[in-house]
Amino acid sequence: MTDSPEAGQIVLKVRGLRVLLHAEAGPLPAVDGVDFDLRAGRTLALVGESGAGKSLTSLAIMRLAGVGAHGGGVSLEGQVHLDTGQDVVELLGAPLAQVQALRGRALAMVFQEPMTSLNPVFRVGWQIAEGLVRHEGLTQRQAEARALELMQLVGIADAAARQRAYPHELSGGMRQRVMIAMALACRPRLLIADEPTTALDVTVQAQVLALMRRLQREMGTALLFITHDLGVVAQMADEVAVMYAGRIVEHADVHTLFAAPRHPYTAGLLRSIPSVAGRATGALPEPIPGAMPRLGRWPAGCAFQPRCARADAARCGVRLPALELASPGHQVRCVRHGEPEAPL
Ligand SMILES: Nc1ncnc2c1ncn2[C@@H]1O[C@H](COP(=O)(O)OP(=O)(O)OP(=O)(O)O)[C@@H](O)[C@H]1O
Ligand code: SF4
Ligand SMILES: [Mg+2]
Repeated sequence: MTDSPEAGQIVLKVRGLRVLLHAEAGPLPAVDGVDFDLRAGRTLALVGESGAGKSLTSLAIMRLAGVGAHGGGVSLEGQVHLDTGQDVVELLGAPLAQVQALRGRALAMVFQEPMTSLNPVFRVGWQIAEGLVRHEGLTQRQAEARALELMQLVGIADAAARQRAYPHELSGGMRQRVMIAMALACRPRLLIADEPTTALDVTVQAQVLALMRRLQREMGTALLFITHDLGVVAQMADEVAVMYAGRIVEHADVHTLFAAPRHPYTAGLLRSIPSVAGRATGALPEPIPGAMPRLGRWPAGCAFQPRCARADAARCGVRLPALELASPGHQVRCVRHGEPEAPL
């Protein structure tokens, strides 16, 4: 078992991450130059519309892009440094066997659909225990006792009986709790959760999110949390990175991002969610007009330009805007971010 990391220590450093999908016409960068740091005990939410590249970013970090459903014709560029507790490993350049050995131990992932990770033919208690035997060197009996504790910890009632259940015998919320127990069993430095509660009903979702947040804080785990639900972001995140067309367009702490977004896309996303205040006044949410261009059809310059009310063809359609510091800790990829007087 690795020691808990010190609060504030950088656990994950992503630099220039690119995910290229090889199509007949040539490689398409579905993720194109993503940079961020994630510290121990902190939660970074990755948000954006469908197809923005959120899942591919997380799968690339796990070296799972190009595996299974994402199979074939994928290449990765850039650097992903993970502090494992023993040393810092550059995951993209490391031998795959080394990364596989770190999965479940230093880095773990929870997916939207637990059945993609749970094996239908093994009892859930055994599946939690298996990682503990493999990574922590526990005996089968010790691991099963620890698995029972973990099931209780994640709020599974009657855990002793449920330990012997097969995945299909549990509800969706219970399966998701089993996934979280498995993911946290070896106290990973980094936990990646991709839409982990989207399939659950609202009450169960709130319980599972609160549980993840508590365990993550207690263990000092760095959490990369992917969601399209800004309500969930407000509940979970310390900081938010907004993705559009394969790139981060804004990154700030959660309060700044909600109160003072500087990128027109972020402002549009916030206007598109129904607010409690809006419900009281009868104001309707405003969807962002148009749709994100398909992969490979991104315009020159700023990819948001065709949908942006502030676009200025001479400035926005030529060069890709850089991700610049608008204020300490607040990065924005927009040539007009320094013009506070213009409406977003
Ligand atoms: N294996 C693949 N083959 C071809 N295209 C792919 C593959 N995997 C992802 N893509 C494409 O890459 C882009 C980014 O996909 P990704 O799954 O990362 O999006 P996302 O932001 O997670 O979206 P969602 O919110 O729908 O989950 C999309 O255009 C998607 O269609
Ligand atoms: S760079 Fe131009 S098109 Fe892009 S978000 Fe800013 S104003 Fe809009
Ligand atoms: Mg996704």
